[in-house]
Amino acid sequence: MLDKIKKIKKQALAEILQTDSIAHLEELRVAYLGKKSEFNLILKGLKDLSAENKKTVGPKANQAKKEIQITLENKLSDLEDLQNVEKEWIDVTLPGKTNKIGHLHPLTIVQQDIEDIFTAMGFEIADGPEVESEFYNFDAVNVPEDHPGRDMQDTFWISKEEGREKGSGTVMRTQTSSVQVRYMEKHKPPFRIIVPGRVFRQEATDATHEHTFHQFEALVVGKKVSVANFLHIAEIFFSRFFNQKINVRVRPSFFPFVEPGFEFDISCTNCEGKGCSACKNTGWLEVGGAGMVHQNVFKAAGYPKGEYQGFAWGFGLERLAMMKYKINDIRLFHSGDIRLTRQF
Ligand code: FA5
Repeated sequence: MLDKIKKIKKQALAEILQTDSIAHLEELRVAYLGKKSEFNLILKGLKDLSAENKKTVGPKANQAKKEIQITLENKLSDLEDLQNVEKEWIDVTLPGKTNKIGHLHPLTIVQQDIEDIFTAMGFEIADGPEVESEFYNFDAVNVPEDHPGRDMQDTFWISKEEGREKGSGTVMRTQTSSVQVRYMEKHKPPFRIIVPGRVFRQEATDATHEHTFHQFEALVVGKKVSVANFLHIAEIFFSRFFNQKINVRVRPSFFPFVEPGFEFDISCTNCEGKGCSACKNTGWLEVGGAGMVHQNVFKAAGYPKGEYQGFAWGFGLERLAMMKYKINDIRLFHSGDIRLTRQF
Protein backbone atom coordinates (compact mmCIF):
# COMPACT_ATOMS: atom_id res chain seq x y z
CA MET A 1 0.00 0.00 0.00
CA LEU A 2 2.79 2.38 0.95
CA ASP A 3 4.51 1.72 -2.39
CA LYS A 4 1.29 2.45 -4.23
CA ILE A 5 0.87 5.79 -2.42
CA LYS A 6 4.48 6.65 -3.18
CA LYS A 7 4.02 5.77 -6.86
CA ILE A 8 0.80 7.79 -7.24
CA LYS A 9 2.40 10.81 -5.51
CA LYS A 10 5.51 10.62 -7.70
CA GLN A 11 3.49 10.39 -10.88
CA ALA A 12 1.07 13.16 -9.81
CA LEU A 13 3.86 15.60 -8.89
CA ALA A 14 5.72 14.90 -12.14
CA GLU A 15 2.65 15.51 -14.29
CA ILE A 16 1.62 18.61 -12.33
CA LEU A 17 5.06 20.18 -12.67
CA GLN A 18 5.17 19.42 -16.37
CA THR A 19 1.85 20.90 -17.44
CA ASP A 20 1.67 24.43 -18.86
CA SER A 21 -2.09 24.80 -19.02
CA ILE A 22 -4.55 25.74 -16.30
CA ALA A 23 -7.24 23.53 -17.89
CA HIS A 24 -4.93 20.51 -17.87
CA LEU A 25 -4.00 21.25 -14.25
CA GLU A 26 -7.68 21.02 -13.32
CA GLU A 27 -7.90 17.65 -15.09
CA LEU A 28 -4.91 16.44 -13.05
CA ARG A 29 -6.59 17.62 -9.83
CA VAL A 30 -9.70 15.63 -10.66
CA ALA A 31 -7.61 12.60 -11.73
CA TYR A 32 -5.44 12.51 -8.61
CA LEU A 33 -7.60 13.97 -5.84
CA GLY A 34 -11.13 13.73 -7.25
CA LYS A 35 -13.86 11.52 -5.75
CA LYS A 36 -13.25 8.75 -8.22
CA SER A 37 -9.46 8.93 -8.05
CA GLU A 38 -7.36 5.96 -7.05
CA PHE A 39 -5.99 8.00 -4.20
CA ASN A 40 -9.42 8.72 -2.80
CA LEU A 41 -10.25 5.02 -2.91
CA ILE A 42 -7.12 4.33 -0.84
CA LEU A 43 -8.14 6.97 1.69
CA LYS A 44 -11.66 5.55 1.85
CA GLY A 45 -10.28 2.03 2.33
CA LEU A 46 -8.15 3.06 5.34
CA LYS A 47 -11.01 2.18 7.68
CA ASP A 48 -10.84 -1.46 6.61
CA LEU A 49 -7.13 -1.78 7.44
CA SER A 50 -5.80 -3.34 10.62
CA ALA A 51 -5.07 -0.92 13.45
CA GLU A 52 -1.34 -1.30 12.94
CA ASN A 53 -1.50 -0.69 9.17
CA LYS A 54 -3.79 2.25 9.76
CA LYS A 55 -1.07 3.82 11.92
CA THR A 56 1.59 3.62 9.18
CA VAL A 57 -0.50 4.05 6.02
CA GLY A 58 -2.87 6.79 7.34
CA PRO A 59 -0.29 9.55 7.97
CA LYS A 60 1.63 8.71 4.77
CA ALA A 61 -1.56 8.88 2.68
CA ASN A 62 -2.59 12.22 4.24
CA GLN A 63 0.87 13.67 3.81
CA ALA A 64 0.96 12.62 0.15
CA LYS A 65 -2.47 14.21 -0.39
CA LYS A 66 -1.27 17.44 1.20
CA GLU A 67 1.87 17.50 -0.97
CA ILE A 68 -0.16 16.99 -4.16
CA GLN A 69 -2.55 19.72 -3.06
CA ILE A 70 0.24 22.24 -2.34
CA THR A 71 1.99 21.41 -5.62
CA LEU A 72 -1.32 21.94 -7.47
CA GLU A 73 -1.85 25.32 -5.76
CA ASN A 74 1.69 26.52 -6.46
CA LYS A 75 1.48 25.43 -10.06
CA LEU A 76 -1.87 27.20 -10.48
CA SER A 77 -0.43 30.41 -9.08
CA ASP A 78 2.62 30.13 -11.41
CA LEU A 79 0.43 29.58 -14.46
CA GLU A 80 -1.82 32.53 -13.51
CA ASP A 81 1.23 34.79 -13.10
CA LEU A 82 2.46 33.71 -16.50
CA GLN A 83 -0.92 34.47 -18.02
CA ASN A 84 -0.85 38.01 -16.53
CA VAL A 85 2.65 38.62 -17.81
CA GLU A 86 1.49 37.58 -21.28
CA LYS A 87 -1.43 40.03 -21.00
CA GLU A 88 0.84 42.87 -19.91
CA TRP A 89 3.47 42.10 -22.46
CA ILE A 90 4.83 45.20 -24.14
CA ASP A 91 6.37 45.00 -27.55
CA VAL A 92 9.16 47.55 -27.27
CA THR A 93 9.77 47.39 -31.02
CA LEU A 94 6.32 48.87 -31.82
CA PRO A 95 6.31 52.54 -32.89
CA GLY A 96 5.43 54.87 -29.98
CA LYS A 97 2.09 56.63 -29.63
CA THR A 98 2.47 60.41 -29.59
CA ASN A 99 0.16 62.51 -27.46
CA LYS A 100 -1.94 64.95 -29.45
CA ILE A 101 -1.11 68.47 -28.38
CA GLY A 102 -3.07 71.65 -28.99
CA HIS A 103 -2.21 74.29 -31.56
CA LEU A 104 -2.20 78.05 -31.34
CA HIS A 105 -4.72 79.73 -33.61
CA PRO A 106 -2.96 81.53 -36.50
CA LEU A 107 -4.42 84.84 -35.31
CA THR A 108 -2.93 84.28 -31.85
CA ILE A 109 0.45 83.56 -33.45
CA VAL A 110 0.22 86.71 -35.56
CA GLN A 111 -0.81 88.81 -32.56
CA GLN A 112 2.07 87.43 -30.48
CA ASP A 113 4.54 88.13 -33.32
CA ILE A 114 3.28 91.70 -33.64
CA GLU A 115 3.50 92.24 -29.88
CA ASP A 116 7.05 90.85 -29.79
CA ILE A 117 8.24 93.11 -32.62
CA PHE A 118 6.72 96.23 -31.10
CA THR A 119 7.70 95.61 -27.49
CA ALA A 120 11.29 95.10 -28.74
CA MET A 121 11.01 98.66 -30.18
CA GLY A 122 9.89 100.03 -26.81
CA PHE A 123 6.14 100.06 -27.47
CA GLU A 124 3.61 99.37 -24.72
CA ILE A 125 0.54 97.19 -25.32
CA ALA A 126 -2.73 98.93 -24.44
CA ASP A 127 -6.26 97.61 -24.21
CA GLY A 128 -9.85 98.85 -24.17
CA PRO A 129 -13.40 97.51 -23.96
CA GLU A 130 -15.12 95.80 -26.89
CA VAL A 131 -18.51 97.15 -25.78
CA GLU A 132 -17.64 100.80 -26.05
CA SER A 133 -19.28 104.15 -25.57
CA GLU A 134 -20.31 106.01 -28.68
CA PHE A 135 -18.12 108.82 -27.36
CA TYR A 136 -14.77 106.97 -27.46
CA ASN A 137 -15.57 105.08 -30.65
CA PHE A 138 -16.71 108.16 -32.59
CA ASP A 139 -16.97 111.57 -30.91
CA ALA A 140 -13.58 111.56 -29.17
CA VAL A 141 -11.82 110.65 -32.42
CA ASN A 142 -13.37 113.54 -34.28
CA VAL A 143 -16.31 111.73 -35.84
CA PRO A 144 -19.27 113.93 -34.87
CA GLU A 145 -22.81 112.67 -35.15
CA ASP A 146 -23.58 114.25 -38.51
CA HIS A 147 -20.18 113.48 -39.99
CA PRO A 148 -20.19 111.27 -43.09
CA GLY A 149 -17.25 109.36 -41.57
CA ARG A 150 -19.70 107.58 -39.25
CA ASP A 151 -21.31 105.88 -42.22
CA MET A 152 -17.97 104.42 -43.27
CA GLN A 153 -18.20 101.79 -40.57
CA ASP A 154 -21.53 100.02 -40.20
CA THR A 155 -22.06 99.91 -36.49
CA PHE A 156 -23.69 97.37 -34.19
CA TRP A 157 -25.54 99.61 -31.76
CA ILE A 158 -26.17 98.31 -28.25
CA SER A 159 -28.19 101.40 -27.31
CA LYS A 160 -28.95 104.66 -29.00
CA GLU A 161 -31.90 106.79 -28.01
CA GLU A 162 -33.18 109.65 -30.11
CA GLY A 163 -32.91 113.02 -28.42
CA ARG A 164 -30.36 111.89 -25.84
CA GLU A 165 -27.12 113.69 -25.26
CA LYS A 166 -24.52 113.35 -28.03
CA GLY A 167 -22.11 110.44 -27.65
CA SER A 168 -24.18 108.73 -24.94
CA GLY A 169 -25.00 105.59 -26.96
CA THR A 170 -23.22 102.25 -26.64
CA VAL A 171 -21.68 100.36 -29.55
CA MET A 172 -19.68 97.25 -30.30
CA ARG A 173 -16.47 99.08 -31.12
CA THR A 174 -15.92 99.38 -34.85
CA GLN A 175 -12.21 100.23 -34.61
CA THR A 176 -9.33 100.02 -32.16
CA SER A 177 -9.01 103.80 -32.63
CA SER A 178 -11.56 103.87 -29.79
CA VAL A 179 -8.67 103.26 -27.36
CA GLN A 180 -6.74 106.38 -28.48
CA VAL A 181 -8.47 108.95 -26.27
CA ARG A 182 -9.04 106.43 -23.45
CA TYR A 183 -5.27 105.98 -23.26
CA MET A 184 -4.38 109.64 -23.76
CA GLU A 185 -6.69 110.73 -20.93
CA LYS A 186 -4.54 108.74 -18.53
CA HIS A 187 -1.06 109.17 -20.05
CA LYS A 188 1.07 112.16 -20.99
CA PRO A 189 3.30 112.11 -24.08
CA PRO A 190 5.81 111.00 -25.11
CA PHE A 191 4.51 107.45 -25.53
CA ARG A 192 4.21 104.72 -28.12
CA ILE A 193 1.56 102.06 -27.91
CA ILE A 194 -0.06 99.36 -29.95
CA VAL A 195 -3.62 98.21 -29.35
CA PRO A 196 -4.43 94.76 -30.72
CA GLY A 197 -8.09 93.85 -30.37
CA ARG A 198 -11.38 92.61 -31.72
CA VAL A 199 -13.72 94.94 -33.59
CA PHE A 200 -17.20 94.51 -35.02
CA ARG A 201 -18.98 95.78 -38.10
CA GLN A 202 -22.41 95.09 -39.44
CA GLU A 203 -21.44 94.09 -42.93
CA ALA A 204 -21.96 91.30 -45.41
CA THR A 205 -19.16 88.78 -45.24
CA ASP A 206 -17.07 87.59 -48.15
CA ALA A 207 -13.56 86.18 -48.64
CA THR A 208 -11.96 89.40 -47.36
CA HIS A 209 -14.64 90.84 -45.05
CA GLU A 210 -15.85 89.61 -41.67
CA HIS A 211 -18.35 91.12 -39.22
CA THR A 212 -15.95 90.28 -36.36
CA PHE A 213 -12.27 90.79 -37.00
CA HIS A 214 -9.12 92.13 -35.37
CA GLN A 215 -7.23 95.33 -35.83
CA PHE A 216 -4.13 96.64 -34.29
CA GLU A 217 -3.74 100.30 -33.72
CA ALA A 218 -0.42 102.03 -33.33
CA LEU A 219 -0.22 105.43 -31.68
CA VAL A 220 3.00 107.36 -31.23
CA VAL A 221 2.82 110.83 -29.69
CA GLY A 222 5.52 113.31 -28.75
CA LYS A 223 6.73 116.79 -29.52
CA LYS A 224 8.43 116.01 -32.83
CA VAL A 225 6.81 112.92 -34.28
CA SER A 226 6.71 113.02 -38.08
CA VAL A 227 5.49 111.09 -41.12
CA ALA A 228 9.13 110.01 -41.61
CA ASN A 229 9.05 108.30 -38.17
CA PHE A 230 5.86 106.53 -39.16
CA LEU A 231 7.26 105.29 -42.47
CA HIS A 232 10.47 104.07 -40.83
CA ILE A 233 8.72 102.18 -38.02
CA ALA A 234 6.24 100.70 -40.48
CA GLU A 235 9.04 99.48 -42.72
CA ILE A 236 10.91 97.90 -39.78
CA PHE A 237 7.73 96.24 -38.54
CA PHE A 238 6.62 94.76 -41.87
CA SER A 239 10.13 93.60 -42.80
CA ARG A 240 10.44 91.77 -39.46
CA PHE A 241 6.90 90.42 -39.59
CA PHE A 242 7.28 88.96 -43.10
CA ASN A 243 10.95 88.16 -42.65
CA GLN A 244 11.84 89.86 -45.92
CA LYS A 245 12.59 93.39 -47.08
CA ILE A 246 9.28 95.24 -47.36
CA ASN A 247 8.79 98.68 -48.88
CA VAL A 248 5.89 100.85 -47.81
CA ARG A 249 4.03 103.58 -49.60
CA VAL A 250 1.22 105.89 -48.59
CA ARG A 251 -1.55 107.35 -50.70
CA PRO A 252 -3.66 110.32 -49.62
CA SER A 253 -6.90 109.26 -47.97
CA PHE A 254 -9.44 110.49 -45.49
CA PHE A 255 -10.05 109.41 -41.89
CA PRO A 256 -11.63 112.01 -39.55
CA PHE A 257 -9.09 111.38 -36.79
CA VAL A 258 -5.99 112.12 -38.84
CA GLU A 259 -4.71 115.02 -40.91
CA PRO A 260 -3.16 114.26 -43.33
CA GLY A 261 -4.61 110.79 -43.72
CA PHE A 262 -3.16 107.91 -45.74
CA GLU A 263 -4.07 104.62 -47.21
CA PHE A 264 -1.10 102.39 -46.56
CA ASP A 265 0.40 99.79 -48.94
CA ILE A 266 3.29 97.36 -48.63
CA SER A 267 5.30 95.79 -51.46
CA CYS A 268 3.71 92.47 -52.43
CA THR A 269 5.02 89.69 -50.18
CA ASN A 270 4.34 87.15 -52.90
CA CYS A 271 6.24 88.65 -55.85
CA GLU A 272 8.37 91.24 -53.99
CA GLY A 273 6.76 94.05 -55.95
CA LYS A 274 7.15 92.60 -59.46
CA GLY A 275 3.43 92.04 -59.98
CA CYS A 276 1.41 88.83 -59.58
CA SER A 277 -2.18 87.67 -59.14
CA ALA A 278 -2.04 88.23 -55.34
CA CYS A 279 -1.41 91.97 -55.86
CA LYS A 280 -3.47 92.22 -59.07
CA ASN A 281 -0.21 92.97 -60.92
CA THR A 282 0.28 96.25 -59.08
CA GLY A 283 3.20 95.06 -56.93
CA TRP A 284 1.45 96.51 -53.85
CA LEU A 285 -0.91 95.20 -51.16
CA GLU A 286 -3.24 97.44 -49.21
CA VAL A 287 -2.95 96.87 -45.46
CA GLY A 288 -4.63 99.71 -43.58
CA GLY A 289 -5.19 103.35 -42.80
CA ALA A 290 -2.83 105.78 -41.12
CA GLY A 291 -2.06 109.45 -40.66
CA MET A 292 -0.95 112.23 -38.36
CA VAL A 293 -3.23 112.52 -35.32
CA HIS A 294 -5.81 115.30 -35.75
CA GLN A 295 -5.48 118.13 -33.23
CA ASN A 296 -9.17 117.66 -32.34
CA VAL A 297 -8.32 114.20 -31.00
CA PHE A 298 -5.62 115.69 -28.75
CA LYS A 299 -8.19 118.29 -27.67
CA ALA A 300 -10.67 115.53 -26.69
CA ALA A 301 -7.90 113.96 -24.59
CA GLY A 302 -7.33 117.29 -22.81
CA TYR A 303 -3.90 118.03 -24.29
CA PRO A 304 -2.99 121.68 -24.88
CA LYS A 305 -3.59 122.77 -28.48
CA GLY A 306 -0.62 122.51 -30.84
CA GLU A 307 1.74 121.04 -28.25
CA TYR A 308 2.01 117.50 -29.53
CA GLN A 309 2.29 115.64 -32.80
CA GLY A 310 1.72 111.98 -33.42
CA PHE A 311 0.93 109.32 -35.91
CA ALA A 312 -1.65 106.56 -35.77
CA TRP A 313 -2.47 103.57 -37.89
CA GLY A 314 -5.06 100.79 -37.91
CA PHE A 315 -4.37 97.50 -39.70
CA GLY A 316 -6.44 94.39 -40.07
CA LEU A 317 -4.83 91.43 -38.29
CA GLU A 318 -6.66 88.83 -40.38
CA ARG A 319 -5.48 90.46 -43.59
CA LEU A 320 -1.86 90.26 -42.39
CA ALA A 321 -2.31 86.62 -41.35
CA MET A 322 -3.81 85.84 -44.77
CA MET A 323 -0.80 87.35 -46.52
CA LYS A 324 1.72 85.64 -44.26
CA TYR A 325 0.18 82.17 -44.37
CA LYS A 326 -1.45 82.41 -47.81
CA ILE A 327 -4.98 81.85 -46.47
CA ASN A 328 -7.47 82.79 -49.16
CA ASP A 329 -10.69 83.20 -47.15
CA ILE A 330 -11.02 85.32 -43.99
CA ARG A 331 -14.06 83.30 -42.89
CA LEU A 332 -11.81 80.31 -42.13
CA PHE A 333 -10.43 82.04 -39.02
CA HIS A 334 -13.70 81.90 -37.11
CA SER A 335 -15.06 78.75 -38.73
CA GLY A 336 -13.98 76.55 -35.81
CA ASP A 337 -12.51 74.12 -38.37
CA ILE A 338 -9.61 72.50 -36.54
CA ARG A 339 -8.08 71.40 -39.83
CA LEU A 340 -6.94 75.02 -40.11
CA THR A 341 -5.45 75.30 -36.62
CA ARG A 342 -3.78 71.89 -36.85
CA GLN A 343 -1.51 73.31 -39.54
CA PHE A 344 0.09 75.78 -37.11
C1 FA5 B 1 -10.12 102.08 -39.65
O1 FA5 B 1 -10.74 101.29 -38.99
C2 FA5 B 1 -9.30 103.20 -38.99
N1 FA5 B 1 -9.61 103.20 -37.60
C3 FA5 B 1 -7.83 102.93 -39.28
C4 FA5 B 1 -6.96 104.08 -38.91
C5 FA5 B 1 -6.41 104.16 -37.65
C6 FA5 B 1 -6.72 105.09 -39.85
C7 FA5 B 1 -5.61 105.23 -37.32
C8 FA5 B 1 -5.95 106.16 -39.51
C9 FA5 B 1 -5.38 106.23 -38.27
P1 FA5 B 1 -10.64 100.95 -41.95
O2 FA5 B 1 -12.09 100.96 -41.79
O3 FA5 B 1 -10.10 101.18 -43.30
O4 FA5 B 1 -9.97 102.03 -40.97
O5 FA5 B 1 -10.04 99.58 -41.38
C10 FA5 B 1 -8.66 99.37 -41.22
C11 FA5 B 1 -8.26 97.98 -41.66
O6 FA5 B 1 -9.06 97.01 -41.02
C12 FA5 B 1 -8.49 97.71 -43.15
O7 FA5 B 1 -7.42 98.19 -43.92
C13 FA5 B 1 -8.55 96.22 -43.18
O8 FA5 B 1 -7.28 95.65 -43.11
C14 FA5 B 1 -9.29 95.91 -41.89
N2 FA5 B 1 -10.73 95.73 -42.13
C15 FA5 B 1 -11.67 96.68 -42.31
N3 FA5 B 1 -12.89 96.13 -42.47
C16 FA5 B 1 -12.71 94.80 -42.41
C17 FA5 B 1 -13.58 93.65 -42.47
N4 FA5 B 1 -14.90 93.78 -42.64
N5 FA5 B 1 -13.05 92.43 -42.35
C18 FA5 B 1 -11.72 92.28 -42.16
N6 FA5 B 1 -10.84 93.29 -42.06
C19 FA5 B 1 -11.33 94.55 -42.18
